Amino acid sequence: MSTPSPLSARLFWLTGLSGAGKSTLALALQHQLREAQWPVVLLDGDRLRQGLCADLDFSPQGRRENLRRAAELSRLLLEQGQLVIAAFISPLRSDRAMVRNIVGAQQFVEVFVRCPLAVCQARDVKGLYKKANSGQIPQFTGISAPYEAPEAPSLTLDTETASVQACSTALLDHVLQGVRR
Ligand code: ADX
Repeated sequence: MSTPSPLSARLFWLTGLSGAGKSTLALALQHQLREAQWPVVLLDGDRLRQGLCADLDFSPQGRRENLRRAAELSRLLLEQGQLVIAAFISPLRSDRAMVRNIVGAQQFVEVFVRCPLAVCQARDVKGLYKKANSGQIPQFTGISAPYEAPEAPSLTLDTETASVQACSTALLDHVLQGVRR
């Protein structure tokens, strides 16, 4: 793999339900690109919400502001030639359109990490669906708050049927195509 020029910097935006596999795939991709010494930064919703966005809730307004900050941060990183991988539920089409507008359509690559709600609930890696179903977490995506699937994502990864390895490979291939375009 050759090192990309700043002009080929892109934001790879992973959207999907909690538990769909966004963070896992984003981490795997970051690892692969780092190994090849590409300049890459990973922004993960769970991590941003521990600090930069710790003041925000999961209301529509809170999510929008969370994603606006992630997009503005991405823009600064893209300007410095970084590839950015972002993993956020980002449940609303209008909010993802805002992100696209902030960074520029050329730079924005939407990746849909698709997994049926029932499968995410069965996985329940963090035990959050159980809490959401018993009413302990309000406005939980898929349970008591909406998730709008992308209409025309650049790439769709089906984590119900394909292995982490297969999805990682497809994602890396897509990234390599994107930055060389
Ligand atoms: S987003 O909707 O604003 O894009 P983000 O990706 O930053 O969400 O954060 C999602 C993570 O926050 C989930 O993986 C989960 O661990 C946690 N979380 C806590 N409360 C909620 C909630 N009400 N809805 C969705 N995720 C929640």
